[in-house]
Amino acid sequence: MEKLNITGGNPLFGEIAVCGAKNAAVAIIPAALLVNGVCIIENVPDIKDVRLIIEMLVQLGARVTYINDTTISVDSTRLKTHIAPVELASKMRASYYLLGALLGRLNKAQVALPGGCNFGVRPIDLHEKGFRALGATVEITDGIVYVNADHLTGDNVFLDTTSVGATINIMLAAVLADGKTVIENAAKEPHIVDVANFLNAMGAKVRGAGTDVIRITGVKEMTGGSYSIIPDQIEAGTFMLLAAASGGDVLVRNIIPKHMDCLVSKLEEMGVNITEYDDSIRISRTGELRGTSVRTMPYPGFPTDLQPQMVALLSTVKGRSTVIEDVWDNRFQYVAELLKMDADITVNGKRAEIQGKKLRGALVQATDLRAGAAMIIAGVAAEGVTQIGCPHYIDRGYTDIERRLRSIGVKIERVFEED
Ligand code: EPZ
Repeated sequence: MEKLNITGGNPLFGEIAVCGAKNAAVAIIPAALLVNGVCIIENVPDIKDVRLIIEMLVQLGARVTYINDTTISVDSTRLKTHIAPVELASKMRASYYLLGALLGRLNKAQVALPGGCNFGVRPIDLHEKGFRALGATVEITDGIVYVNADHLTGDNVFLDTTSVGATINIMLAAVLADGKTVIENAAKEPHIVDVANFLNAMGAKVRGAGTDVIRITGVKEMTGGSYSIIPDQIEAGTFMLLAAASGGDVLVRNIIPKHMDCLVSKLEEMGVNITEYDDSIRISRTGELRGTSVRTMPYPGFPTDLQPQMVALLSTVKGRSTVIEDVWDNRFQYVAELLKMDADITVNGKRAEIQGKKLRGALVQATDLRAGAAMIIAGVAAEGVTQIGCPHYIDRGYTDIERRLRSIGVKIERVFEED
């Protein structure tokens, strides 16, 4: 069995750079299927989910070549099938982007229902609504989604719930459709803007990304170009919360500070010292921190993907805190792991009440990607040794995590033990 062992209780010092955004990369790489030519994509994070999506593109007939550690070339000139490999597709959530991309390019797609982190029901009805509005049929049989169209024509789509995945998928399906598509109540996350910028750099006409109305004018063809993925807002936030939990003085580099506004304001409210520079943020802590209240929301609100890491920090600071999860139905499963470290947290539906205290190291599990990041934060703040099982979840979204964390003083090692 593989584990990450962390010895906690030491302040952290130094600099750590943020990699390219996972949730942008796992959309932009499939979006390259829309391009009848070569896309050069830079700042690609070296994580498991990216390797999986690249493998799926290769099996669809795209030629993917690594130019260096973080730059790939994708040539989708000669796609050979619209059928995504079932086993790979069912391993990750973002495989649903193959639906929009293949539908847009080939007018048909066949992709297994997506897997990924389990936060309760994760429907794709809004993706379906968008594809149907453009003229496609959608059927789901035995866990496989089939989308087909004779012809795609732009239309208006109102998203009943703000959905990141549906917003991106409808953009992908619409860029080569005839006429205009308007997505209303669109999600505004930084990676929505990044995907739109990528599509435009390849020849598409997408306007309004980053607002709640996105307008797409279909083009006949996209022919290729170069694009660099934005830094990962969630990785940046994870490192900032880690530095707040450990104390010390850490410079988190390669950040877009605007994306961090909501987190910065919360951390300052708690007593963390923060200095913003053009593309980095310094976090330091001199005194004790105070508890606070947090409610997750779509961007620009507090990101659900930082909720577990925030709860880990709040478990260690003085006073009471309240965290309300308003995006997912069931994203507090990992709390059971923090309780093993002596945390004082009570969960009632979508609400967690936290009484901060000193945590102590224990054997815990990474129950999903961000839950794993939360265990790292708790482990660094705790007294003694924390052993984190299932680190493969963490590897899905964080590049070379132990080497990078060691560079700011985290005492972390990966161990392999016989079962
Ligand atoms: C994306 O998931 C991210 N994943 C998630 O990050 C993130 O938690 C989530 O957006 C919210 O920010 C990727 O980008 C690959 P949604 P997604 O559609 O697109 C409801 C991480 O840790 N909904 O915005 O699947 C849904 O139930 C991962 O990196 C519908 O009702 O999320 C939820 O309540 C985990 N019908 C809400 O919308 C639909 O058709 C937001 O989901 C789609 C969604």
